[in-house]
Amino acid sequence: MVAVLSPNERDPYENLAPGYEGVGEFYDLFADNSDLSFYIEYANKCGSPILDIAAGTGRVTFALAKQGHEVVALEQSQSMLSVAKKRLLNSPTAVVDRVTLVAGSMINFELSKNFPLIILPTSFAHALTTEDQLSILKCVYSHLRDDGLFVFDIFPGEMQYENATFEDKPVQLGDSHTVSRSGEIHSDPSKKLMRMDLRYTIRNVTGTIVKVTEGVSGAALIFKSDADYLIEESGFTVEEESGDFEGSPYTPESGRRIFVLRKGD
Ligand SMILES: C[S@@+](CC[C@H](N)C(=O)[O-])C[C@H]1O[C@@H](n2cnc3c(N)ncnc32)[C@H](O)[C@@H]1O
Repeated sequence: MVAVLSPNERDPYENLAPGYEGVGEFYDLFADNSDLSFYIEYANKCGSPILDIAAGTGRVTFALAKQGHEVVALEQSQSMLSVAKKRLLNSPTAVVDRVTLVAGSMINFELSKNFPLIILPTSFAHALTTEDQLSILKCVYSHLRDDGLFVFDIFPGEMQYENATFEDKPVQLGDSHTVSRSGEIHSDPSKKLMRMDLRYTIRNVTGTIVKVTEGVSGAALIFKSDADYLIEESGFTVEEESGDFEGSPYTPESGRRIFVLRKGD
């Protein structure tokens, strides 16, 4: 369906940003960690150093560093990076020595270093345009060793809701408060964009709301043919592809599309 906007109504898909500023402290509380053993397996296979792109709070970075891997974590959001920095301060020296946090954008980066493994967990679609997506892949290509692997996942555009609401279970905070996360998802397949309006509500011990933090997050809808085009255009070859982190084959009904890429012949 095509939405017709009245003259003073703003396009809800205009100026969409990744939307992590101010909410970094809540990210890990609601994160799905079912991908960690998958990334650890590839880290053990390829070795260090590993580049973790759009590393967020360091959810995957620190899991790899704890396994003995050296990791460079590239992240744009100061809010997410500040959580990663706190994590670093509270880590044992051996882990601290293995982690390097770098502030920067995945769309255009130059680290003057090559990696046997580059990963980009759950974040690729925050590059909203084909041009930006190709730019990421070009940067990855130039930072990947010739025999290295690039591993990333997307939520296939075909499987995204056009309109949905959700409410996660409240999570206990250290100070006897709770935080709950709720949100609305709207997708426009014709624009190939998704908008997620997120709300974090903090309640005290009596259940009274003491703070509400809201944010809008934008993501690209990446359909099968789009992903296939991006990979071919950027000179990568698909080494493996799956529809979940347990290795099930990707099908049109899969909720994820996970790629293991190598440089093309
Ligand atoms: C869903 S979170 C995933 C974080 C982390 N990869 C993980 O799996 O826990 C998406 C992350 O992508 C980051 N991000 C979005 N656009 C970015 C960009 N252009 N450059 C670097 N990071 C970006 C956001 O700030 C956020 O930390």
